[in-house]
Amino acid sequence: MMRPKSITFRLTLFFSTASTAVLIVIGYLAGTLVEAHFEQLDLEELRGKLELVRHTLGKVHTPAGMAAVPEKLSDALVGHHVLSVAVVGAGRSLLFKSPGADFPASLIERGTTEDASGREHPVVWEQGGQGYRGIAGTAVTGIAGQPLVTVAVAVNTEHHRVFMQTFHRRLWLAIGASIALTALLGWIAARRGLAPVHELARLTHGISISRLGERLPPQSVPTELVDLAIAFNDMLARLEGSFRRLTDFSSDLAHELRTPISNLMTETQVALSKARSAEQYREVLYSNLEEYERLARMIADMLFLAKADNGLIVPSSEPVDLTTEVRNLFGFYEAFAEEHGVGLTLAGAGSIAGDRLMMRRALSNLLSNAIRHTPRGGSVKVLIEQRPSGEIGLRVENPGEDIAPEHLPRLFDRFYRVDPSRHKAHSEGAGLGLAITKSIVEAHKGSIRISSADGTTRFDIAFPAAGAERRAGPHTTPAQQDWERSGK
Ligand SMILES: Nc1ncnc2c1ncn2[C@@H]1O[C@H](COP(=O)(O)OP(=O)(O)OP(=O)(O)O)[C@@H](O)[C@H]1O
Ligand SMILES: [Mg+2]
Repeated sequence: MMRPKSITFRLTLFFSTASTAVLIVIGYLAGTLVEAHFEQLDLEELRGKLELVRHTLGKVHTPAGMAAVPEKLSDALVGHHVLSVAVVGAGRSLLFKSPGADFPASLIERGTTEDASGREHPVVWEQGGQGYRGIAGTAVTGIAGQPLVTVAVAVNTEHHRVFMQTFHRRLWLAIGASIALTALLGWIAARRGLAPVHELARLTHGISISRLGERLPPQSVPTELVDLAIAFNDMLARLEGSFRRLTDFSSDLAHELRTPISNLMTETQVALSKARSAEQYREVLYSNLEEYERLARMIADMLFLAKADNGLIVPSSEPVDLTTEVRNLFGFYEAFAEEHGVGLTLAGAGSIAGDRLMMRRALSNLLSNAIRHTPRGGSVKVLIEQRPSGEIGLRVENPGEDIAPEHLPRLFDRFYRVDPSRHKAHSEGAGLGLAITKSIVEAHKGSIRISSADGTTRFDIAFPAAGAERRAGPHTTPAQQDWERSGK
C-alpha cells in the first residue's frame, strides 16, 4: 500500500491550491475591469468628438462654408493626436479626414455604430501595428436639402495596449509571488500547527515497559489532540494492567510450581534417608503420583489458557443440550455433594450450539466451586432459560458467605483465590478454574458475570442467540430456533 502523503504536504498543497484559485479569479477580474474601464474612457472621448463634429457641421449653412470645415476640425483636434476623424458625404465622397487612422470601409458603410437602443458598438481594428477603436454616426449640415453625412471618429488604443501589457505582466508576477508566499506560509503554519503532534510523539518515545505508569497530559495538548491523548492514556492503562497481570502470572506460576515440587523433593528425600520396605516405597510413590497429577492438571490448564489467549481454542459447533449436561454433572458430583451435605437442583431447559467437552469443563468448574462453597444443608441451583432476546442464560447459584466486592473483578484472573491460605490445605484448586470457564464461554461468544450479595453467589452466563444474524425476527417459534441453532 502506498504511504499516505504527509499532513504538512497536504495542508501546504491545499493552501496553495486554494490561494492560487482565489488569486487567479481576482487577477482575471482586475484585468477585465481595467480593460473595460479603458474602453469606457475611449468611448466617452469618441462620443464627445462625434458630438463636436456634428456641432461644427450643423453650423455650416452654405456649400462654401463646407470648405472651411476641415480647417475648423483640424483646429478643434489640435493636441488630440491620438484621435482621427473622417467625414464622408453622399456617394462616399470624403469631405474631411484627419491624419492617423484609415477607417475600415465597413465602419463608414454602416453609417452608425449605435444600435436601436442607443448602445454604442465600437469597431476595433489594427493598422500599421497600432490598435484603433472607432465609432460612426450620422450628422446633418445646416445646408438646406443636403443629405446626411457620416462622421467616423477613432482613437489610437496603442498606449492602452502597452499599459495593459505591463499591467498584466506585473499582475501575474505579483500573483505568482503571492502563490509562492502562501505556499511557504502554509508550510510554516502546517509545521507549527503540527508541533504538538511531534511533542506528543516525543513524550510517547519516552514510555517504555519500565515506565508504563507515565501518562500524556491531556490538559496541555490542543483540543483536537485531547481525544488522542485520552485514548492513548487508556491504551497505556490497559497495557499496564495486562503487563502487570502477565508479570503476576509469571510469579504466581513460579510460586504454584514451587510448592508441589518442594513437597515431592522433601518426601523423596525423607524416603531415601533410610532403607524402607516395599510397602513404604509404594506409599511414597502413590503420594507423589497425586502431586504429579496436580502438576499435570495445572500444566494442562495453563496450556489451555495459553491457547485460548492466542485464539487457538476453536470450539466445535454441535448441538449441546445444557439440561442433559448439567444432569450428567449432577450425577458425577452427587457423591461429592452428599459428602458436603449439599443439594443439587436444576430448573429450566435449553440448548446451544457449541463444544460439548468444553462446555462440560466450564460447567463442572462452576459446580465444583459452588458445592465447595455451599454450607452444609444448603443447595446449589442451576437455572437454564431462554430469554426473549433469543439468548440462552445459564445461572449457577449457591448460598454462602458473600465474596467481598474487591475480589469480584479479579476472580476470573489466573491463580486468583479469595483465600489463598485454604489452598495450602488442599481444599481448593490452583485458581485456574474460573479463568478457564471464562475463556470457554468467550470462545462460544458468550459472557459471564458474577455477583455475590445477601448470602448468595451467582454466576450468570449468557450465550448469544444461535444464528442471531439469520433469525427471521422476534416471532420465530422454538422449533424454528432449534432448527436454526443446529446450523442447517
Ligand atoms: N461459588 C463460589 N462461592 C464463593 N467463592 C467462590 C465461588 N466460586 C469461586 N470462588 C472463589 O473464586 C476462587 C477462584 O475460583 P477458581 O475456580 O478459579 O479456582 P479454584 O476453584 O480455587 O481452583 P481450580 O478451579 O483451578 O481447581 C476460588 O478460590 C474461590 O475463592
Ligand atoms: Mg474451581
